[in-house]
Amino acid sequence: MFLMIFTTLVASLACFIFLYYLLYSNRSGESHISRINDPNLCRLVIAGRYKKHNQLPPLLARALPNQRLRIAFGINNVFTSNDESYVKDFVKKAKDSIKVTPDEWSYLSDHARNVVKTYLMGSDNSPVVRIKLTSLIQVLSMRLAIWVLFGRAKDGPTYRVQDRDLVSLAEAINQRWLASKGNEIPRFEEDHDLQAGLSAVFPDHNILDPEGNPLNLVMPAFETLWRAALRMFIEVRFITGRRSPEWHQALAEFARKPTKEQFTLQGAEGGISAEFLVSEALRLYPPTRRIHRAFKWAGSDSTVTIAADIEASHSMASIWGPDATTFNPRRWGSISAEQRNAYFPFGSRPFLCPASSVFGPWMIGLLVGALIGELPKDWRLDSANQAVLKDLNSGGRLRGERDAYEEVWLAKDLGRVD
Ligand code: HEM
Repeated sequence: MFLMIFTTLVASLACFIFLYYLLYSNRSGESHISRINDPNLCRLVIAGRYKKHNQLPPLLARALPNQRLRIAFGINNVFTSNDESYVKDFVKKAKDSIKVTPDEWSYLSDHARNVVKTYLMGSDNSPVVRIKLTSLIQVLSMRLAIWVLFGRAKDGPTYRVQDRDLVSLAEAINQRWLASKGNEIPRFEEDHDLQAGLSAVFPDHNILDPEGNPLNLVMPAFETLWRAALRMFIEVRFITGRRSPEWHQALAEFARKPTKEQFTLQGAEGGISAEFLVSEALRLYPPTRRIHRAFKWAGSDSTVTIAADIEASHSMASIWGPDATTFNPRRWGSISAEQRNAYFPFGSRPFLCPASSVFGPWMIGLLVGALIGELPKDWRLDSANQAVLKDLNSGGRLRGERDAYEEVWLAKDLGRVD
């Protein structure tokens, strides 16, 4: 028994040191990451098979560029490990954890709408007039994601967690993510703020165990959901969709009744379904904007990182037409084979996201539908930052950086956007 534990520990340590070495031996080259936007080449990059034969096996090609996440968040998950059996088990666990029954979808619908209503009431039950938009969307996304991923108990400890603890954790994750792109990656073991934020939300987890860290599952789910929901909500409620009540209705109805029929319902005269709106949001605002892989060519000692540029492939005018960078859900009524091939917000084989067919799109529709359905009509977007307001008023594509809308507020009877 002792020998087995010892061997596992030594193997894990050796694997970590090897990955760490490969990562740092090539860090100076990070600013020169090549970006590929041709859809077919992107798919080859994702599979780790771009151009010349890659000496690195596909799992290692994915794990290497993600080692910064392991360091900054103390995780060891499907994106950071190159251990085949660990990755296989993780994918299975993730697949199982996002199987949601019709009754549970119905519960999620009530839960989502109640979270928004409660947030609008404020802590002392007096209606609030100003809300930080990213905090509301992060609280909503995190509450739903952790309910689904961790036990689904209606009265468990994560269910009773306070909004302010969720906001602190979301902000800590965001800051560390931004910091991890720099040269000095903050180390999770020394990051007492992030640890405290995590313990407040997950008091029963051993957060210092990389394989037991709840962020292993929270990161792929929460990090993608809230950013997609944020941009889709702004587009549909305040920009392109502000004069399209039928778009609002499609989403609010889906949030009230999350079923396949409701998701695909097009309304009168080939109208716009919740599915079209979600697909268009994921096309224009894919939360995973680029997928990185490491490559090592024969005869070379060093690795290079290549990025499959999903965002660029989703907005090529030669494929999507002259309105490629405009939010236009109507396009989903007649999508061509070429466009389908150029659309991969959930990555592609052999690493296709298990949430791609149902859970991911439905959750985004549910989050945005709950926000649209519960937020009274007289609320506006507001910001003390004139540049941000100007940007929102421009009607152009929203910005993709993760902190782009940190200074945006929902306000009742205050500053107007339109
Ligand atoms: C809108 C929501 C989501 C988007 C846009 C998204 C996007 C992606 C993308 C782009 C990949 C491929 C990454 C790569 O090739 O390096 C991926 C993989 C994955 N995602 Fe998601 N994801 C979403 C939600 C979720 C959720 C809710 C879970 C649940 C825990 C999840 C779990 C995973 C897992 C386990 C993989 C790895 C699959 C494999 O290696 O076979 N994702 N996701």
